[in-house]
Amino acid sequence: MEGKDPALVVLSSCLVTAFSVFVLMFLLKPKAKKEASWVNKNFGKDCDKCVNFLTPTEIEDLLKDGKPKAFCRCWKSKTFPMCDGSHAAHNKETGDNTGPLVIKP
Ligand code: FES
Repeated sequence: MEGKDPALVVLSSCLVTAFSVFVLMFLLKPKAKKEASWVNKNFGKDCDKCVNFLTPTEIEDLLKDGKPKAFCRCWKSKTFPMCDGSHAAHNKETGDNTGPLVIKP
């Protein structure tokens, strides 16, 4: 410490500490918190935003068999975007009230 300005030593120590805290906060906290709060945990995680589009013609084609079609709104379905009934387990476990969008023929 001889010959060094004490103010510079204190300042550099503070900067190193602040940088270390910033790096630790960036590396540890945000990722764990973000992933835990995800609604969509599985489907299309390689895209920035999951959006599905259907034209009226595509909807008519889907309904040609005369059966209603249920689209998942809970993000728990293994057959997303179609509902596979997984919302029932989610609702039972969490007390939530999610359910599909059903399009009738
Ligand atoms: S599985 Fe998601 S709404 Fe049915």
